[in-house]
Amino acid sequence: MNMSFSAGRYRSLSLAVVLITAAISAFLPAPAMSASDAGQQPEQQEVEVLHWWTAKGEMKAAQVLQGSLEQQSIGWKNFAIAGGGGESAMTVLKSRAVSGNPPSAAQLKGYDLQEWGMLGFLTSLDEVADAQRWDQLLPPVISQIMKYQGHYVAVPVNIHRVNWLWINPALLEKAGATVPDSLESFFVAAEKLKQANIVPVALGSDPWQEVTLFESVALAVLGPQDYRRAFVDLDSDMLAGEQMVDVFRQFEHMRQYIDVKTKAMEWSDASAMLVEGKAAMQFMGDWAKGEFSALGKTPGKEILCVPAPGTQGLFTYNIDSFAFFKHSDDLSIQAQETMAHTILTPDFQRKFNLAKGSIPVRTDVDMTGFDSCSLASAAAFQLNQQNNTLVPSISQGLASTSYVQAAIFDVVTDFFHSKQTDPVKAANQLARAVKSAR
Ligand code: BGC
Repeated sequence: MNMSFSAGRYRSLSLAVVLITAAISAFLPAPAMSASDAGQQPEQQEVEVLHWWTAKGEMKAAQVLQGSLEQQSIGWKNFAIAGGGGESAMTVLKSRAVSGNPPSAAQLKGYDLQEWGMLGFLTSLDEVADAQRWDQLLPPVISQIMKYQGHYVAVPVNIHRVNWLWINPALLEKAGATVPDSLESFFVAAEKLKQANIVPVALGSDPWQEVTLFESVALAVLGPQDYRRAFVDLDSDMLAGEQMVDVFRQFEHMRQYIDVKTKAMEWSDASAMLVEGKAAMQFMGDWAKGEFSALGKTPGKEILCVPAPGTQGLFTYNIDSFAFFKHSDDLSIQAQETMAHTILTPDFQRKFNLAKGSIPVRTDVDMTGFDSCSLASAAAFQLNQQNNTLVPSISQGLASTSYVQAAIFDVVTDFFHSKQTDPVKAANQLARAVKSAR
């Protein structure tokens, strides 16, 4: 198999570099201190916040957070690093942390929290969590992700559903196609669009976007139990088995309906293609909804949201969260605690999630004014939580460590970009790559 460079592999290598550098630095003089640690107390409470919310809809959501803090006289130092999925943001964060100057808060999520927790960089949020009763407020599936060795190290902001298909209904109608609800009907619709000279599926160029498509196909083919066996339990028989071969087969079939990019293209550019009538469908998490709204389209009406074909009623989750880096001055610590507390207030949860396209992590938030896609997402989350069928997103780092995630990214993206593809070989390759990355 052609082992071309991929962001996934780069990501795990860079984490290894952090580990090695952190180990070496234990034997070196202390790194340069930040201004506040060096005794120059900041004059007001301030948070420097690293995030990758730079698309139009995302910026609106980030402004809700900034506004909520500014109302409490906490300054906002914006540390935004463009790049959906957070690949570039994580690279910058690692270099700031290794040089001893991490920001006060960073958008960190999933298994990355465990890896940063293990390195000893994160501050405990247990006091805020006890006072605000996070254990009672949060669904267990979420609180467990926020804890490292039983202590809260991050505060969750939202719940994103990843297994969505976004549709421009006017283009579907033009091609005489109907809204698909299974992989079979998806391919029928895609073929009609292709025949009508309409790009069936818009897909950006990042590996994580290809894996977003792959994981929705995998959920459709495998169902939630076997998806978990493969991507959470990392069961080799499941990863190399007949069903996984079928996942690769269906994924391969999808390629015929995608204008595969050779130039860099963000997920938000793909969303814009739907708005501008240049492509009919997009597989993407519901952060795309923030983008459609920001571009003046009503999600659920002008741009439809339906579960990714074959995943009706199921829920792939991606939970955004903020973690806080250890700082020693009181003003920074107070600002961090206020930020963590603010994020879980009902008022913030409502305003932020309305802008972001996601749903609140608290179940007691007034959902009046949320669109039909969010209401469907909230109902599906609850149902899957009750049935124990929620599945974590692979592409978003919620299913496995960054090492395993990188191995999956490599196999999936190599397969997607190869001309000669053999689904049997790909499934075997996946099992082997995952095994060696564990
Ligand atoms: C984040 C979302 C964000 C998306 C695109 C995901 O990794 O969880 O909050 O909107 O990337 O930037």
